[in-house]
Amino acid sequence: MADQASGLTIEALLSEDRTFPPSSEFRAQALVSSEDIYAEAEADLEGFWARQAEQIDWFQPYDKVLEWNPPYAKWFLGGKLNISYNCLDRHVQNGGGEKVAYYWEGESGETRTITYAQLLEDVCRCANALKSLGVRKGDRVAIYLPMIPELPVAMLACARIGAPHTAVFAGFSAESLSDRMNDCDAKLLITADGGIRKGSVVPLKKNSDEALKTSPSVEHVLLVKRTGEDVAVQEGRDLWWHDVVSEQPAECEPEALDSEDMLYLLYTSGTTAKPKGIVHTTAGYLLGAMTTHKLVFDIKPDDVYWCAADVGWVTGHSYIVYGPLANHTTGVMYEGVPDFPARDRWWSIVEKYKVTVLYTAPTAIRAHMKWGPQHAEAHDLSSLRLLGSVGEPINPEAWLWYYRHIGGERCPVVDTWWQTETGMIMITPLPGITTLKPGSATRPFPGVEADVVDEQGNSVPLGGAGYLVIKKPWPAMLRGIYGDPERYQQTYWSRYPGMYFPGDGAKRDEDGYFWLLGRVDDVMNVSGHRISTMEVESALVSDSRVAEAAVIGQRDDLTGEAIFAFVILRGDVESEKGLGEELRQYVATKIGAIARPKRIMFTPELPKTRSGKIMRRLLRDIANDRQLGDTTTLADTSVVETIREASTASKGDE
Ligand code: PRX
Repeated sequence: MADQASGLTIEALLSEDRTFPPSSEFRAQALVSSEDIYAEAEADLEGFWARQAEQIDWFQPYDKVLEWNPPYAKWFLGGKLNISYNCLDRHVQNGGGEKVAYYWEGESGETRTITYAQLLEDVCRCANALKSLGVRKGDRVAIYLPMIPELPVAMLACARIGAPHTAVFAGFSAESLSDRMNDCDAKLLITADGGIRKGSVVPLKKNSDEALKTSPSVEHVLLVKRTGEDVAVQEGRDLWWHDVVSEQPAECEPEALDSEDMLYLLYTSGTTAKPKGIVHTTAGYLLGAMTTHKLVFDIKPDDVYWCAADVGWVTGHSYIVYGPLANHTTGVMYEGVPDFPARDRWWSIVEKYKVTVLYTAPTAIRAHMKWGPQHAEAHDLSSLRLLGSVGEPINPEAWLWYYRHIGGERCPVVDTWWQTETGMIMITPLPGITTLKPGSATRPFPGVEADVVDEQGNSVPLGGAGYLVIKKPWPAMLRGIYGDPERYQQTYWSRYPGMYFPGDGAKRDEDGYFWLLGRVDDVMNVSGHRISTMEVESALVSDSRVAEAAVIGQRDDLTGEAIFAFVILRGDVESEKGLGEELRQYVATKIGAIARPKRIMFTPELPKTRSGKIMRRLLRDIANDRQLGDTTTLADTSVVETIREASTASKGDE
């Protein structure tokens, strides 16, 4: 509800009242089965994290838990540790070397099974190779690899010697790679001849060569043979992994690093400006990733856990590599796309490896929804016991589809809100105790103090909406933007002094549950009402004929902005005459006349980033007849052109 008097900023329109308490069986076996954990963390934040930190093997104990000089936090001051030691050596030393770390499956069907003992050897060899190439503690290493085991190996090898890595997602262009390497003055690049995607080759070495023309800081290229195609090898600069790494000794002493030594940099794009190099350090990050991984996914020793993200994103860093390995978890790593060779590929993987926990993104769930449940039904998914979602707000309908068709109505769905900057899951159910509501990320993780505030920074009463803020430091928080302290201060800490501002809108319902409303840049202003695009999209997707929707504000003389919805129909639905009108009316009935879209356009695709987020900014440019803004992060550039043509052609039809 809007409350103009208190300066509320975003209106909360959609209400979802279906609830799913944990089953007694799930609760009985869950790691967290009592609410006490919240009170415990609230009563003593530092004590709570210090107790969690007992899971870490320290080379030297820390002498202070937290030093907080806003906006800079230091955690576990004085402690010495090594992350690769915590992820590998200690498990092997404890007799867990034969446990599988990764079941890797290539897109074309080949497989590799890698135990903890093997992974440790591979990491040591790679770490020795890095040293032989002159990489020292503190040097930055760029990693531009596809989803192959050498990717986590390279990251862990960097972590072993204290050289911060910066992974660049293999779908990025030469220019993006070069920009990132230049921003951090990378000394070494680790890449492959090529990657495989949907049966074709992604020319990674060719892109790297292009990037290296403008990245003079890079001295050597370590090159993994993945596709076997012919690539140019520059004498002296480029070295094959199989020559250099394989011949190294399989032991390498892990460097004793300071808690606050930099572990990695990961670039995240702002909407317009140049990407920000988000800095993560060692102890706090490890602790945040491993604690949340364990408690949110309720991880047990016999789980087979599959996070279907790419390691090149933060989700892969925290929840394919560092969190799961520190917890001695068996993981699945899949190289390819979900619909190759057919649309049941994921479900065949779940069946084959008997996956118990699956973590993916709403964009993937909506794609499966569009393709229909028959692909999942063709496989035995009974091994699954828990499902997770991350990356975007999940529409209640997509949540329910996931719950029913993938989880067989027996698996809790944990919708986890977090960011590259937060390093760890921040708002999330704890599956043994939280009553779920489809579409809500529910509550802040224990020890995370989140709030919803208005323009002035006042807490909005329950039932209202506004801006999400985090009021206390957390261990895995970013330590800054690489080389740009002013931008760090400006982007995250200037709007509300002393509070971290993630840039997302949120509402809280009467039970105190958080409902994420998307980036605040995406909010529309219709006749003075600020409406979240996400709520209108969710209303549209709740019609059984709609698979996906993207909503934006289009300039309007009368109302300031008018709601324009781009709609993808489910596989078997034809767009009949009158359907647009029906859907407009449906939204009005579901969430109120103010949210009725003025215009609906049916489209087969939407412009998305390579991590699957809808780029509403480009749709706004199209709808408002503006030149397209920056399209470098777009996964498929032809999509916007198709939409632009269709949009122009359909203007006269309304
Ligand atoms: O807008 C939020 C959305 O994704 C943003 C962070 O993106 P990135 O740094 O790429 O990290 C993605 C993986 C952690 C957030 O500011 N977001 C992420 N998870 C959710 C979400 N929005 C709603 N619900 C979520 N569960």
